Amino acid sequence: MCGIVGYIGKRDAAPLLLEGLQRLEYRGYDSAGVAVSGKSGALKTVKAKGRVRDLESRLPKRFAGTTGIAHTRWATHGAPSDDNAHPHMDPDGVVAVVHNGIIDNAPELRAKLTADGVEFASETDTEVLTHLIARSEADSLEARVREALARVEGTYGIAVLHASFPDRIVVARNGSPVVLGIGENEMFVASDVAALVRHTRQVVTLDDGEMATLKAGEYRTYTTEGSRTSGSPTTIEGEAADPGAWDIGGHEHYMHKEICEQPDAVDRVLRGRIDDRFATVHLGGLGIDAREARGVRRVKILGCGSAFHAGQIGAQLIEELARIPADAEPASEFRYRNPVVDPDTLYIAVSQSGETYDTLAAVQELKRKGACVLGVVNVVGSAIAREADGGMYVHAGPEVCVVSTKCFTNTAVAFALLALHLGRVRDLSVADGKRIIAGLRRLPAQIAEILSAEEEIKKLAHSYADARSMMFVGRVRGYPVAREASLKLKEVSYVHAEAYPASELKHGPLALIEPDVPSVAIVPDDELLEKNRATLEEIKARHGRILAVAHAPQEAADDTIVVPHNEPELDPVLLGIPLQLLAYHAALALGRDIDKPRNLAKSVTVE
Ligand code: AGP
Repeated sequence: MCGIVGYIGKRDAAPLLLEGLQRLEYRGYDSAGVAVSGKSGALKTVKAKGRVRDLESRLPKRFAGTTGIAHTRWATHGAPSDDNAHPHMDPDGVVAVVHNGIIDNAPELRAKLTADGVEFASETDTEVLTHLIARSEADSLEARVREALARVEGTYGIAVLHASFPDRIVVARNGSPVVLGIGENEMFVASDVAALVRHTRQVVTLDDGEMATLKAGEYRTYTTEGSRTSGSPTTIEGEAADPGAWDIGGHEHYMHKEICEQPDAVDRVLRGRIDDRFATVHLGGLGIDAREARGVRRVKILGCGSAFHAGQIGAQLIEELARIPADAEPASEFRYRNPVVDPDTLYIAVSQSGETYDTLAAVQELKRKGACVLGVVNVVGSAIAREADGGMYVHAGPEVCVVSTKCFTNTAVAFALLALHLGRVRDLSVADGKRIIAGLRRLPAQIAEILSAEEEIKKLAHSYADARSMMFVGRVRGYPVAREASLKLKEVSYVHAEAYPASELKHGPLALIEPDVPSVAIVPDDELLEKNRATLEEIKARHGRILAVAHAPQEAADDTIVVPHNEPELDPVLLGIPLQLLAYHAALALGRDIDKPRNLAKSVTVE
């Protein structure tokens, strides 16, 4: 979704800003823009619908300035266009604003400003903020921004330049991330550390209701009411701190790179956590002791998209290993239905980015009602990680492709660790604990084994890519795998796909089965094997083509991708891997924009 980059220092701002925008391209966007303030303080801006390279090609030769802000926009108010791209300026060219988020009361403010004679140059909600700041007569830029923010309702991460205050950038946050990057005699700001790691590892993440003033050699943070806040920098650590981890390496697409990274990523989520002596795992950040863990009566997992599907796998693992009733629900639904919050329920919010607005809003609603909320999150220090009472990082490393692959897998494995932990403080035996630990340790090599069959899977992808629609079916452990595989295929290849519990097929969707609507069936060799085989026969009898993902070739299927056995509880982790490659190669065969599928954004930071 939208991205912000800002720079103030001694270097030429434009190349740094463009490089920062390129680092944020992965979030998804439809237009981009940049503003710099030249020596006199006068602001210059260039905007373009399309990619950052389109913006770059429009930059005039003379676009010098050592202070600037830039933006990638994902349209919410007004179609993608040059005019709607940020930065937005007032007619006198004095103020430039970039904004992530949504101003809810923009229509009312726009009507009032229009009645006062203001002419709008765009259809965006953001432009309202520009005019409010430009019309303020307060003494400082900080006060002008504060005055404007006091009139808006909604979410924002903003960065503001003003020609009369050329020595500073003022930024503010409410619901949309803003991270300051602290350099030597230069300061950066971005909506995502991806745009900062090449320049500095010292960052300050603003909280909601916080603002900051950046000057070349200093910064200060304060609340929107004006009281100073500590603003102490922290150091970006782990995988995200390695600038190379954000590069595409030798791969054609980030999606391919991230699929291939899974053996290492899974190794990372396990590292340092297994306790062989007690056949359990140590999860230091959970913040709940054994007594509290024993007191949990239910587990409710919340997330969106792939995070929700990983949560469904997690719920099954927790029920199986810890025997605690558990279920997963889309956070986007949960937050709107005035949920009954139960003090004996452990709530778990799942998110790759840790920024997904619906998931964050669910966490905030739960906390307001006094619930205990854990986060299972990939991005360290993200909003959900900070808002949760405790939790665990999934250590997938930076995930750049809009389509989640390695983070989904690592999240499922993280849930296996959590389930094992909860199981071992309850009734899971030492023998079962050891069995699961041995299974977990086999996963990286088994994922590598599946990935080594890429050529074969690629051929299958080519032969299924022209399907009119595809049906994905699985039963119990296989169902979340089917859902995730169906999401993967549709978001990256745009082939329509449906996912159903195999048991539900005969209650309706069987009507869709015909030769050009193939089915992908998840058929693990578990206690439901015969039931799943019966489903294959039902499809075959309707002349449906079948691709099975199974532990052995399936007679009723036209094709089978064979994956190695693990422990039945952990099989879902492996069964989904070949289907990531299937989606990738189908999308490639269809010529899709793999890392940035149309209409989608990596982090959905709006409602
Ligand atoms: C995954 O492939 C999707 N692009 C999407 O469903 C994603 O999982 C969802 O938006 C949640 O994102 P999060 O994990 O960052 O919260």
